[in-house]
Amino acid sequence: MNDLRVNDLRSISLNVRDLAASADFYGRVWGLEKVSQDAGSIYFRTTGANHHSLSIHEAPLASLNCVTFAAPDKATVLALHAKALSMGVEVVEAPAGLAQVAGGGFGFSLRSPEGHVFRISADVAAHSSAIEDRTRPNRLSHVVINSVDRVQHEAFFRDSLGFRLSDATDHLTFLRCAKDHHSIALAKAKGSCIHHIAYELPDLDSLLFGAGRVRELGVEMEYGVGRHGPGNNVYSFFIEPNGFASEYTTGMDQIEDEASYVAHDQKWWDSQGLRRPDRWGMVGRRSERLLLATSGKLVNDWNESCTDAISRKMAS
Ligand SMILES: [Fe+2]
Repeated sequence: MNDLRVNDLRSISLNVRDLAASADFYGRVWGLEKVSQDAGSIYFRTTGANHHSLSIHEAPLASLNCVTFAAPDKATVLALHAKALSMGVEVVEAPAGLAQVAGGGFGFSLRSPEGHVFRISADVAAHSSAIEDRTRPNRLSHVVINSVDRVQHEAFFRDSLGFRLSDATDHLTFLRCAKDHHSIALAKAKGSCIHHIAYELPDLDSLLFGAGRVRELGVEMEYGVGRHGPGNNVYSFFIEPNGFASEYTTGMDQIEDEASYVAHDQKWWDSQGLRRPDRWGMVGRRSERLLLATSGKLVNDWNESCTDAISRKMAS
């Protein structure tokens, strides 16, 4: 089967240290809506149809728990599992009903070469109606992962899960599994962890209203509003209570014609004459706090120790 692949980014699951504080942020500030809760876990939906786009689980340390991709059907789940086994990829959960996950479905999970767990699922429950509020995220857009060995990590996504290369710069590799220019990106780094997590807003006006709400509720915007080069999406970055960099985004390029699409490298992007770091030329540098967050250095180090670390970095 040449076209064996996952076909969407479904959800992300995070371990968090303070479930109540995290739930308050994701509900009241970030605009997600709680759909279910059990001992130590809360599931949040966006305004779209996906059963949930985020789950948070109370744990001693904040970390990435897993990322879930959608498969079109159970047969594809089974075929991807068989392929993973044939390639020697570590399977964490064998294919089975997902009764332990809100929304259920059928799926399996595997571990990437850098130790992250990815679940592939089908037949998951969905909402029959959208929430009518354009200032809130309508779905999970993309997850960017700091990677020690981008070549090996890229091969995992391409060979095991059917991702395709959209673009590769000196610092980022953009991979797609649907029409979105990227659902996963890999950032060049010395450690492997979350770089940032992005949620989609319906359009630019929606993003601006949403980002305005986040700021009004006391969470400063660390970078943006700007428009990226690769992907062409609009961005605004914040930092959530566990120290994960979190993005509101909109307007990502859609790859409608797989056959004619050509991935470009840094040299090609340099030749395009685009303003940097954003196409509009409106945005300054990333904040020091965001640089720490995207390198994973704020996670588990959020309060005073984090402030101290930022002060030291800014003073040096
Ligand atoms: Fe992003």
